[in-house]
Amino acid sequence: MDFQFTEEQLAVQAAARDFAQSELWAGVIERDEHQKFPAEQIKKMGELGFMGMMVSPEYGGGGMDTVSYVLAMEEISKVDASCSVIMSVNNSLVCWGLEKYGTEEQKQKYLPRLTSGEIIGAFCLSEPEAGSDATMQRTTAEDMGDHYLLNGTKNWITNGSTASVYLVIAQTNPELKHRGINALIIEKDTPGFVVGLKENKLGIRGSDTHSLMFTDVKVPKENRIGEDGFGFKFAMHVLAGGRIGIAAQALGIASGAFELALKYSKERKAFGVEIAKHQAIQFKLADMATDIDAARLLCLQAAQDKDNHVDYTKSGAMAKLFASKVAMDTTAEAVQVHGGYGFVKEFHVERFYRDAKITQIYEGTSEIQKIVISRELLK
Ligand code: CAA
Ligand code: FAD
Repeated sequence: MDFQFTEEQLAVQAAARDFAQSELWAGVIERDEHQKFPAEQIKKMGELGFMGMMVSPEYGGGGMDTVSYVLAMEEISKVDASCSVIMSVNNSLVCWGLEKYGTEEQKQKYLPRLTSGEIIGAFCLSEPEAGSDATMQRTTAEDMGDHYLLNGTKNWITNGSTASVYLVIAQTNPELKHRGINALIIEKDTPGFVVGLKENKLGIRGSDTHSLMFTDVKVPKENRIGEDGFGFKFAMHVLAGGRIGIAAQALGIASGAFELALKYSKERKAFGVEIAKHQAIQFKLADMATDIDAARLLCLQAAQDKDNHVDYTKSGAMAKLFASKVAMDTTAEAVQVHGGYGFVKEFHVERFYRDAKITQIYEGTSEIQKIVISRELLK
């Protein structure tokens, strides 16, 4: 492992920090409270190059490595995890999936607009009865010769109403089980495609999560990604990298909460001294900082594996499993360090505490990460 960051990586980190600190704090409580999508902020993130960081410049992307992406994800998540999940889905699921497996025509058609922030994308795998058990796809893409006929429902889709491009996983040939699944590109205004109600969530409330309904939606064959039957493998490959992004999100949520707790502990007085002078508080800070550093190392290890073309299935799952636990523990302790003030919105840590939980659920629950890690260990 060599984490001497390059000048370019440090510049990306500094740019993400400057943007997050100067542009994301304002309105973050209101966006959370009113479930307001951060449209202006995402537009600016597109202009600054944060929406298609790893995409080749040929398609309008930043041509950056995964380490830079992790550094930027941490900085954005330190302030607003709703912005970072939108960023994560667009970068590591939609753009990466399209660039890696799409046809030249698909890349030219969608990537420049996705990377600039003009439009955003969504990744649609989960269904009412297919979450962890992702091969159990009930959405069907019937092969009609020159097109597919798409029918079914997707659940929990991030960017559900705000996206313009949707990568939808659906079953074409049930006899072949997961080998009969396809990945299709659907544009929002396609007839028969309806966006369902917005979910009212515990955390990441600025991001919009919806169910999606498809009734006899005609999808041209040229909208399929990869060979016939490649859809499930596509989803698994994309998620292996996506998990590094969510690990970095969890890391950012933890470090954002830690920074607030550290600052507060030096300001708040109890029993005649700053609470940071009480060893019980010092030990909490020591545990938080140690956990965060360990989580960061796992995130960087996974990112470096991806950049070095080493299999990152296990390291990405380990990073997500560990960083999401650190996010839960650290945000709970950050609320504790704040006492009663930690329980109210103005001090931000209660939001970090609520936002942390989702990192143990989406892009594969912690139990699923353990399945992935143990399978890799035993194979
Ligand atoms: N890379 C490539 N291929 C993979 C793979 C990987 N990491 N993992 C599995 N596969 C392939 C297998 O090789 C197999 O294909 P073949 O039979 O052709 O070899 C096929 O996928 C099926 O594999 P399994 O038999 O292992 O499948 P399984 O039913 O036991 O499930 C699982 C595997 C890992 C549990 C998988 O279902 C899974 O990842 N579930 C979690 C789903 C998930 O992460 N959803 C996230 C939705 S997106 C999201 O959440 C976005 C967001 O929040 C912002
Ligand atoms: P289940 O699969 O029903 O799991 C319930 C419980 O059982 C969990 O604790 C799980 O770990 C456990 N469990 C299940 N199987 C096993 C097993 N074999 N061994 C041990 N334990 C097991 N999906 C998308 O496709 N795109 C998105 O953009 C997206 N965004 C999301 C945003 C939000 C806010 C949320 C809440 C979800 C999002 N999801 C998205 C869906 C998410 O990926 C799923 O919720 C997740 O994969 C879990 O699936 P499930 O909810 O059906 O839970």
